[in-house]
Amino acid sequence: MTVLTSAVAAPEVLDRCRGLVRPALQDAVGRLHPWVGEMAGYAFGWCEVGGAPTRAAGGKGVRQALAVLGAEAAGSPGLTGVPAAVAVELVHTFSLLHDDIMDGDAARRRRPTVWKAYGTGPAVLAGDALFALAVETLAGVSAGPEALRLLSVALGDLVRGQADDLLLAARPWTGPRRVRPVEYRTTAEHKTGALLGCAVALGALLGGAPPTVVAALDRAGRHLGVAFQIVDDVLGIWGDPEVTGKPVHGDLRERKKTFPVLSALDSPSPVAGRLAALLESDAEPARAAALIEEAGGRSAAVTEARRHIAAVDALLAEVPLEPAARGDLRSLLDFLVRRDL
Ligand code: IPE
Ligand code: IPE
Ligand code: MG
Ligand code: MG
Repeated sequence: MTVLTSAVAAPEVLDRCRGLVRPALQDAVGRLHPWVGEMAGYAFGWCEVGGAPTRAAGGKGVRQALAVLGAEAAGSPGLTGVPAAVAVELVHTFSLLHDDIMDGDAARRRRPTVWKAYGTGPAVLAGDALFALAVETLAGVSAGPEALRLLSVALGDLVRGQADDLLLAARPWTGPRRVRPVEYRTTAEHKTGALLGCAVALGALLGGAPPTVVAALDRAGRHLGVAFQIVDDVLGIWGDPEVTGKPVHGDLRERKKTFPVLSALDSPSPVAGRLAALLESDAEPARAAALIEEAGGRSAAVTEARRHIAAVDALLAEVPLEPAARGDLRSLLDFLVRRDL
């Protein structure tokens, strides 16, 4: 079995956008209740438990970069997209704080999750505070009502996707109630794609793009989200926790209906039957991971992720975008589907 041991180097655009957004993000987090702000700072990798400053690995900053690039793609300076970038990064962090409680995960970004470090109640509260701060941030921009409408749609979809993610986990692996690929796709688009689409669309809106461009970018981001979630699923089974910063096999233990497992179970290979029996017996996840790969689940996932990236490319080709921002978006896409999969 091939194990992912190294990540493809992050493109320079992520650092550039993080640098543009960080002052406004820190300023916003600084307005929170100090204890809640500390939990947010811990999640962003700015401090330790107790508040001592540090420089831990925060997130990749994908959503804030998409918002900045959305503004640049519309022909405006990246700074124009900063309020959108702050809002989507806050919403993303809020969703991770709650997601780790829902998924029972103890590690994220190579550190204990916020609920492990501070307790479940405080982590729920910190998530709520970040959500409120995101809304406040967008309410202050000139395109406020439309920006808030886009964010509300994404939030509604994110919650819908998270609800389905939990419900699908409770469904059986096989038989008439098994999870179909279309259900996976819808769930991934909602829980992950909606916010990626919102990020780039909001940035473009603040950058002055016309509604047709905003809508096309939103759709592109949703396809990107499905590809991104499939890659996340693959890394959750075969990724190196040192690189991903997240636990391995957590999805299998939680009976999450991830793309590699669903496609392995659907395959005509005789291994599919053995895999189903193993999953029903809640046996060793490492053994299940080997059978998923043998039944073709891993390569099917990579193919499916690439199909969604092709859809992103097609949507981006339809709209006029500033060439430099288009190039940056392209390098981000390459990074996000990690070519070493
Ligand atoms: C993790 O998102 C949650 C998913 C939608 C798969 P990221 O992989 O963007 O997380 P960070 O922000 O880089 O930690
Ligand atoms: C990603 O959920 C979507 C959200 C956090 C809203 P996952 O549970 O699949 O992501 P990871 O693997 O924990 O980051
Ligand atoms: Mg999770
Ligand atoms: Mg989850």
